[in-house]
Amino acid sequence: MSNLVSAKEMLNKARDGKYAVGQFNINNLEWTKAILLTAEELRSPVILGVSEGAGKYMCGYKTVVGMVNGMMEELKITVPVALHLDHGSFEGAKACINAGFSSIMFDGSHYPIEENIAKTTALVNACDVLGISLEAEVGSIGGEEDGVVGMGECADPNECKQIADLGVTMLAAGIGNIHGKYPANWAGLSFETLAAVKEKVGDMPLVLHGGTGIPEDMIKKAISLGVAKINVNTECQLSFAAATRTYIEAGKDQQGKGFDPRKLLAPGFEAIKATVKEKMELFGSVGKAD
Ligand code: 13P
Repeated sequence: MSNLVSAKEMLNKARDGKYAVGQFNINNLEWTKAILLTAEELRSPVILGVSEGAGKYMCGYKTVVGMVNGMMEELKITVPVALHLDHGSFEGAKACINAGFSSIMFDGSHYPIEENIAKTTALVNACDVLGISLEAEVGSIGGEEDGVVGMGECADPNECKQIADLGVTMLAAGIGNIHGKYPANWAGLSFETLAAVKEKVGDMPLVLHGGTGIPEDMIKKAISLGVAKINVNTECQLSFAAATRTYIEAGKDQQGKGFDPRKLLAPGFEAIKATVKEKMELFGSVGKAD
């Protein structure tokens, strides 16, 4: 049984309500449980992101689908949850559709625009039939993710329109954002590009990648200009690592049964919950599940 939903309805509601739904990437059981429980506690819709690398790490897409479906049932999660492939290849997209994902990102931003259009078109048709939401990308997002390095381009608004017109559900457009930590000399988001893209694509919900470390005022402005989905990955990793480090450095793993993984991983789990809560509050998605 699957209670997963497409991201379409939650993102259209977010766009109309001027807030954004967070995509939080998962890496293992603790990550998934922390994000699902936080979403449920805050009555927020949520998107669980899975990169191809994380999918491999978690023993393949079928394992991920089984874990998420099982967890939603056992934890009685009732808020809308989409399970989404993050920066998928064409082959990865097909594999996730077959495995039971409810949302797909095909990242064709590194192909010439004609090839991006051809591959995205094929997936639009497949996803349509199955009721799966589809995210496309124009203008590669900077930084490094799973060995794919982009330079933080600003997308061409005309190319954005070409891809949006294919019938995708949501569009990621590069606006100077990058994955991972932002360097001290980062120029900030290009709101000029964002406004030009929005002008061309009309109602299409826009996706902001690289949500880690973007200042609050820029997040709010991006939402006001049509961003309805914001991806966060590194920030959960940083808070998990910091909390785990504090636990170990305090020698707690050497006290009593402190080495028990259920104890050892608990501070990191709570840290992910706190980060996700902070982001959901900032994005304005709290209470929007109902
Ligand atoms: P960060 O790791 O910078 O938060 O970016 C996440 C992301 O955009 C996933 O697609």
